[in-house]
Amino acid sequence: MKDLFDFGKKIDDYAVMGNPISHSKSPSIHTLFAEQTQQSILYTAIHVDLGGFTQAVGNFAASGGKGLNVTVPFKQEAWQLVTERSERAERAGAVNTIKFMDGKVYGDNTDGVGLVNDLTINNGIELKNKNILLMGAGGAARGVLVPLLKQQPASLFIANRTPDKAKDLADAFADLGSVEGGGYESLTDKKFDIIINATAASLQGELPPLPDTLLNNNASCYDMMYSAKATPFMNWATEHKAVKVLDGLGMLVEQAAESFYIWRNVKPETKVVIEKLRKELQL
Ligand code: ATR
Repeated sequence: MKDLFDFGKKIDDYAVMGNPISHSKSPSIHTLFAEQTQQSILYTAIHVDLGGFTQAVGNFAASGGKGLNVTVPFKQEAWQLVTERSERAERAGAVNTIKFMDGKVYGDNTDGVGLVNDLTINNGIELKNKNILLMGAGGAARGVLVPLLKQQPASLFIANRTPDKAKDLADAFADLGSVEGGGYESLTDKKFDIIINATAASLQGELPPLPDTLLNNNASCYDMMYSAKATPFMNWATEHKAVKVLDGLGMLVEQAAESFYIWRNVKPETKVVIEKLRKELQL
């Protein structure tokens, strides 16, 4: 494997750490990026026991590893562990990308920029001056708020099953734009141009309680989850005549591309990788 991507240069080691990790698509995505950009890297998936994250990161760095992706359930622990954070990682309270350099451990969070790039660049959905609904107030929602608000939407409403969590999250980001939070019952008199599902409901085959009147004309709906089949929220969006109904596969590849850029200073081409993963998902 190592020889395959050794273009006569030294191979740099990267990995994704998580638990579980066996289904992670990150090794295939980064290997495709490396082939495409002729970067000499080896990217593996490392299963880390709960309680063993700090040790695992230390071992990886000591063996000369250059960078890591971090996934469930270690993103908050990674935030604690790093010695420097980007602004978006600082505010997200979670780190999904680590870069080791000159004895420093730099932490970033590329989830939000991954979502924004998939919406705006890949799917032509402008966020500026739009009314956005973000469903969910957990780690996934918090992780995307800085890049979403930097797009200057007219408003962003965070709806959550536990309304106080949405209100607290909105308060924590209110300095960055017009953000409010509340329960699903407060959606009855509101309309949105873009709805993003950052809840874990799709994983359970469930749908948050949404009023039928929620979508403006030309609205787009985005589920941060992806699977071979449309999620319950995507089905709801299609039934309610959303013009664009998207899943999170593009976000997965875009967040990886941003990590790759942080590590290698080279921007990979994402479209071909998204298409390849989409085909594999449908097999
Ligand atoms: P993650 O890191 O994926 O965001 P999390 O922090 O556990 O995971 O948050 C899960 C989010 O999905 C929460 O906003 C949760 O709502 P509560 O805060 O009220 O628990 C939301 N969620 C999970 N299952 C849901 C369901 N069936 N319907 C609506 N929201 C759901």
